[in-house]
Amino acid sequence: MKNIITSLLVVTGLLVTGNALAVDMPQLAKDNRCTACHAIDRKILGPAWMDVSKKYKGDKKAAAMLVAKVQKGGSGVWGPMAMPPQSAAKEADIKALVKFILGLAK
Ligand code: HEC
Repeated sequence: MKNIITSLLVVTGLLVTGNALAVDMPQLAKDNRCTACHAIDRKILGPAWMDVSKKYKGDKKAAAMLVAKVQKGGSGVWGPMAMPPQSAAKEADIKALVKFILGLAK
């Protein structure tokens, strides 16, 4: 029985990594559960981070604005679905994640 569970886990793991993209979600995004709603290349509940990056490309005020938005939550930019305040995430983590997001679209 234990073996069956182990092999099921291995298969699921393979399916997930088999889908891996050129850029994967950083560990920080997994730790802070951003991955529940965001992926790099497709919409889940929230917009694809690549789309976010393209939208704010060249916008010098975007980083500070997005850090505040992630902290406080909000809606209306990408649709009616709101992002809840990510109050469990540390400010330094959010800053690093926003920097990562803005760097996606080159
Ligand atoms: C419960 C789902 C959920 C989680 C968890 C979540 N987000 Fe979001 N996120 C959303 C939704 C929905 C939007 C779109 C909000 C809008 O349209 O204004 C969004 C938008 C964004 C945007 C773009 C904001 C804008 O104004 O353009 C960024 C950047 C972002 N999220 C980063 C993060 C980061 C970083 C985390 C993890 C710390 C995170 N999100 C966790 C749902 C989520």
